[in-house]
Amino acid sequence: MKAILCLKYASAKALQVQEIPKPEPGAGSVLVKVRATAINDFDWSLIRGKPLLYRLLFGLRKPKTPIPGIEFSGTVEAIGTGVSSFSVGDAVYGDISGFGWGTFAEYCCVPEESILPMPDNMSFEEAAAIPHASMLALQGLLDVGGIKKGMKILINGAGGGVGAYGVQIAKIYEAEVTGVDAQSKLEGMRAIGYDQVLDYKKVDFTKNGQQYDLILDAKTNRAPKAYARALNPGGKYVTVGGSLSRLIQVVLANKLGRKEMYLLALKPNKGLEQISAWFAAGKIKPVIDGPYKLEEIPPMLQYFGEGKHQGKVIVSLPE
Ligand SMILES: NC(=O)c1ccc[n+]([C@@H]2O[C@H](COP(=O)([O-])OP(=O)(O)OC[C@H]3O[C@@H](n4cnc5c(N)ncnc54)[C@H](OP(=O)(O)O)[C@@H]3O)[C@@H](O)[C@H]2O)c1
Repeated sequence: MKAILCLKYASAKALQVQEIPKPEPGAGSVLVKVRATAINDFDWSLIRGKPLLYRLLFGLRKPKTPIPGIEFSGTVEAIGTGVSSFSVGDAVYGDISGFGWGTFAEYCCVPEESILPMPDNMSFEEAAAIPHASMLALQGLLDVGGIKKGMKILINGAGGGVGAYGVQIAKIYEAEVTGVDAQSKLEGMRAIGYDQVLDYKKVDFTKNGQQYDLILDAKTNRAPKAYARALNPGGKYVTVGGSLSRLIQVVLANKLGRKEMYLLALKPNKGLEQISAWFAAGKIKPVIDGPYKLEEIPPMLQYFGEGKHQGKVIVSLPE
């Protein structure tokens, strides 16, 4: 099968498209024929081995798992012993980041607990765009943020994967939503539902006197006290990712008693059925950049890393 291999920490250019043997599913795993996959921040970090601290997880000298990719949709091709929830031919999707990597390939073996059946009315491209970013948005807004009807919400880094789902989820709760991102993304952000959009180069939302009931952050590039200034009394700040040193500050602030500051620890696929139900009801729609081909993953990873994407960068594989 064809796969994208990352044999050393370097750049997107160093990735290789190679023919390798098709894997066989072990006990409790299924072999999936990948029909679509998505590029995520985790992949960008894995191929470069940056931030360096991540190498403790990824492998000290080179990636322990040479095939990147954590999010996918496809059909079950074979099942390992003990698999009870899926049969050959089932359409499935999921985020395998709790178990490993490997979706940038024509086939991938995944534990049965890392996948769900795909809803009937969803395309493979839409399905691959959903599990990772929508779960960060849902768990950030609901599980940690405690979103309630009519809240005033701000999303920082609003034009990316998390922001695209965040605004749609917030609108289901009839929230008033402000999004902060680069000028080039503001028009697209208005189109998917943001009530107000702010260009981060022109406006510092922590200094313009506005306050919010809930801030969801995908960038985390400020100190906790700056975010606290932009919160209403009783408001919450929830970060899903961003600068490592700033994330550590948020965790420390929480530990030191600032109970309004939280870092989300993603639980892969927890809440995916809810997103599927909203999708079926026409309330959630993935924002797709692409689809591109498997061979295009190296340049598209570079494009993703340079922040040129809007929504989810999707790679489609033939039937
Ligand atoms: N907590 C967890 O367990 C967990 C698990 C997995 C992933 N994550 C993290 O979750 C995040 C995923 O977010 P995502 O998929 O939405 O990322 P994304 O698609 O890269 O979106 C981030 C957006 O922020 C914008 N941006 C850049 N600089 C900014 C600034 N100074 N102010 C405001 N916006 C700015 C980016 O614009 P440009 O593109 O123009 O730069 C981009 O549109 C990542 O940080 C990832 O590491 C967390």
